[in-house]
Amino acid sequence: MTDLLTISGLTRGFYGVSVLNGVDIAIPEGSFTGLIGPNGAGKSTLFNVVSGLYRPDGGAVTFAGEDVTALPPEALVRRRLVRTFQLARGFPKLSVFQHLMLYGREQAGESLVSALIGSHKARLREEALAEQAWAVIRRLKLDGVVDNPVVALSGGQKKLVEIGRALMAEPRLILLDEPMAGVNPSLTEEIAGHLVALNREGVTICLIEHDMGLIRRLCDPVIVMAEGRTLTRGSFDEVASDERVLEAYLGRRH
Ligand SMILES: Nc1ncnc2c1ncn2[C@@H]1O[C@H](COP(=O)(O)OP(=O)(O)O)[C@@H](O)[C@H]1O
Ligand SMILES: [Mg+2]
Repeated sequence: MTDLLTISGLTRGFYGVSVLNGVDIAIPEGSFTGLIGPNGAGKSTLFNVVSGLYRPDGGAVTFAGEDVTALPPEALVRRRLVRTFQLARGFPKLSVFQHLMLYGREQAGESLVSALIGSHKARLREEALAEQAWAVIRRLKLDGVVDNPVVALSGGQKKLVEIGRALMAEPRLILLDEPMAGVNPSLTEEIAGHLVALNREGVTICLIEHDMGLIRRLCDPVIVMAEGRTLTRGSFDEVASDERVLEAYLGRRH
């Protein structure tokens, strides 16, 4: 498999404290890669830097053969590298449908004004977006809550809408930071099922997850981070039997 995303020597600190100490990671195209490591290892920060939310201090990120280091999130989303975000708090009254539409429009770099002016082109674009939003809604089985305000959703349904929002970008690679956190077991299975289906369709997935049972079932390869570095990588069984991984989780000092 060729690598879709390559991260090399990535560094980032906050207020003089370094959090990423030269991360090297390659994510094979088509893989369902797991990213694990003890709390504070820098996993979420890595996603924040790769997805353009934070600028790296050093190092490089290559996506589909192109240097995308320090590009802003919109530019990465246009290249179909997306991550999930918590639902915006700014639009509490927007329905699930409106939320997906709004996000699709943002991704197209289209202004609300141009959509409101109502040109023929804008209307066609609106129809295409609506069709896409409906496809996402059916896929995630959100039909029943499509007109509900996003704030009225359960925690688990919110997670589904967050995934739906990422799907509006027709991603090649999705970065998911604990999408099952705080979700009940049956919805966890449902989310896992959606991710497996997407992956079978060719979407590359990188999943940060605490639940080792899920990582074991879903992910290959598994990459382990500790103290802002890549510790090791392999199949779940390989990394789980690696003594350094156990040490990292136990917090032992080297
Ligand atoms: N915006 C930030 N400002 C200051 N420190 C941060 C920021 N983001 C992350 N950190 C620090 O970076 C370290 C790694 O955090 P994080 O990337 O969330 O780890 P993980 O997701 O592996 O648990 C933590 O010590 C955290 O406090
Ligand atoms: Mg985290």
